[in-house]
Amino acid sequence: MTQACTATAVACANIAFIKYWGQRDAALTLPANGSISMNLDGCLTETSVLFDPELAGDSVWLALGGGEEEPASGRAFERVIAQIERLRAMAGNRWPVQVRSRNNFPSDAGIASSAAAFAALTCATCAALGLDVSERELSRLTRLSGSGSACRSIPAGFVEWHTDGTDAGSWAEQIAAPDHWALSDLVAVIDTGAKRVSSLHGHSLAPTSPFFDARLAELPQRLAEVRQAIIERDIERLGVATEADAISMHAVMMTQRPPAFYWLPATLLVIQAVQRWREQDHIQAYCTIDAGPNVHVICEASDAPEVESRLCELDAVQWTIVNGPGPEARIVG
Ligand code: PMV
Repeated sequence: MTQACTATAVACANIAFIKYWGQRDAALTLPANGSISMNLDGCLTETSVLFDPELAGDSVWLALGGGEEEPASGRAFERVIAQIERLRAMAGNRWPVQVRSRNNFPSDAGIASSAAAFAALTCATCAALGLDVSERELSRLTRLSGSGSACRSIPAGFVEWHTDGTDAGSWAEQIAAPDHWALSDLVAVIDTGAKRVSSLHGHSLAPTSPFFDARLAELPQRLAEVRQAIIERDIERLGVATEADAISMHAVMMTQRPPAFYWLPATLLVIQAVQRWREQDHIQAYCTIDAGPNVHVICEASDAPEVESRLCELDAVQWTIVNGPGPEARIVG
């Protein structure tokens, strides 16, 4: 390579129906369990990388939540450059990099901003450095960034992150394409403040919960349930298993040492409202929550306008983000 090289990629955040919480190997980001998610077509990150021997050094610029672009420093900078370093070494390239990344949704509030960010970063960097990798390899490399759930943002639509405890066997694969099922994820935004316990730290604490092993024991059955529900487009089966899994993960979080409470009072108000709509009005909507207070409400697209207008009427909800099944991480420039 003699000329500067550049590429731009876009990737979606994803919402897990079966959650990843706890690791088998922190250095390799090998999860304790498999997980299943859907890409979110309304929560996107666009990342450009420029490798140029003329640059004075590495720099990372982030524009979060539609705001102004600012230089990244500290841990955020180090995590991005560690992933770049891994790929530069693979490509035998030593040129400095300039990374520019922007997303259109609040960061650090349990909307998987790091998943979209590291999927887009890895996709753009592989393309710019001329690394010819399969989707499976791209997903594996994205996992190594440390934001494990980012590997699920590489394939399109409904995705399963396999894991057999080895580096080569831990990658994400499509279960069904985005057009397989018109499913909606309405994010009820409650609070956009940064989370107090990072998921990276949280994973290491998970085994201190007395309920961690019980959760792992019930997951093979629940993974099969969710996989089948997606294939059969069965909202009740998907919703019941998804809600149970979120509650199980948060029970582990709340019983870790020290405990991590991501819920706010408003989180519970939304969960109770959705359960009431289900019981009283037979609306097939179900809740799931990541490492933050915001509630993701899963329903079929035909019910989404009704569910969204009900969510907007709740004082607890600031606004909603409407998502359908999103595409794969892809090069756009
Ligand atoms: O990939 P991480 O380290 O940001 O962890 C993701 C953890 C959860 O969002 C809570 C669950 C999941 O599977 O997305």
